[in-house]
Amino acid sequence: MTRRGFARALAALAAPGGWSERALAQRALAGVDLAPDMIWLNANENPEGPSRRALEAMREVLPHAWRYHFQEFGDFCAAVARSEGLDREQVLVGAGSSEILHAAIDAFTAPDRPLITMWPTFEAPEGITRALGRPVIRVPLTEGYAADVKALVAAAENSRGGLIYLCNPNNPTGAYTPKSELDWLAANLPVNTVLLVDEAYIHFAEAADLATAIAYVEQGKDVVVARTFSKIYGLAGLRVGFGCAKPELIRRMEPFRDNVISIVGARAARAALEEASTLVPERRARTALLRDELYVWLERHGFGFIASQANFVMIDVGRDVRELLPAMYRRGVAPGRHFPPLDHMLRVTIGTAAEMAKFREVLLEVARA
Ligand SMILES: Cc1ncc(COP(=O)(O)O)c(C=O)c1O
Repeated sequence: MTRRGFARALAALAAPGGWSERALAQRALAGVDLAPDMIWLNANENPEGPSRRALEAMREVLPHAWRYHFQEFGDFCAAVARSEGLDREQVLVGAGSSEILHAAIDAFTAPDRPLITMWPTFEAPEGITRALGRPVIRVPLTEGYAADVKALVAAAENSRGGLIYLCNPNNPTGAYTPKSELDWLAANLPVNTVLLVDEAYIHFAEAADLATAIAYVEQGKDVVVARTFSKIYGLAGLRVGFGCAKPELIRRMEPFRDNVISIVGARAARAALEEASTLVPERRARTALLRDELYVWLERHGFGFIASQANFVMIDVGRDVRELLPAMYRRGVAPGRHFPPLDHMLRVTIGTAAEMAKFREVLLEVARA
């Protein structure tokens, strides 16, 4: 990164403002002329990347990418649905799960129907809702950094309905909401309320009492589950995700998404699904190993952290993380940004073993400076 580019990136990071400003800051960092050896541990991507079979599927379809391939998408959607034991009418494919979140917000919030979001969590749903001029209610996390389901329901009752956003496991804390709490929530949804469960990281989870919310979809509840191929499948740049919900909810979301996704993404995702039964547990185990290694190191060096069910960890650096980040960038490591109100926490994505070694070295250096 040039000095000017770096200064611009830091200035953007320091700029006050809402979600969209911070998104811009991240884009500013991503857009400047970067040192080729910068280690990116900021976006919870998976360094294992596309599997060999996914790469082959992409190569095969590239010469045919001049067509839309509309006729293939029904089949693709059916394959996605089958992978979760659902019917095609219960699934909506999108350009990443971001598009599914967007469609759900478009369909199920209104000027008098707020987004009710656990907080802090993934900010995009709040950002989209505010951009639409619709209200947002933040419900603080429990002491265990997971969703406070009773408070979410109380907020929905107070506002006579809304869209509850629950991220499980939660980004950025990595903590999770147990099945018993989710069961209660799904059984006690107030009238005029839809529950949107974001399971972007669920494939990484190992906790025995963490379960997918897709069961509530099967039960016909007012629940939408968002899933992505960006994380464990390592296909973030291809933009493939999907939503699961009962057909009535899918039909209401459908007008708010674009057309079809890229055929290259669809073929890669399909190949990934075909090997999911081995690929997912293997990648989960490898990620857990590196995460455990990080825990041991953190304990040895006196850092607190939040136990994570995802491919990232929140580390307590004991002071405002904004004091450390510029020094880390200068040393060639880019962890996650500041996630208010968790001012003392630094979120790091689990990268390769070599990247994690460099991260540890740099963290120690800057924390002790
Ligand atoms: C919790 C959560 N949900 C959704 C997304 C969106 O991912 P994508 O649009 O790539 O599926 C992200 C991205 O980091 C995320 O952290």
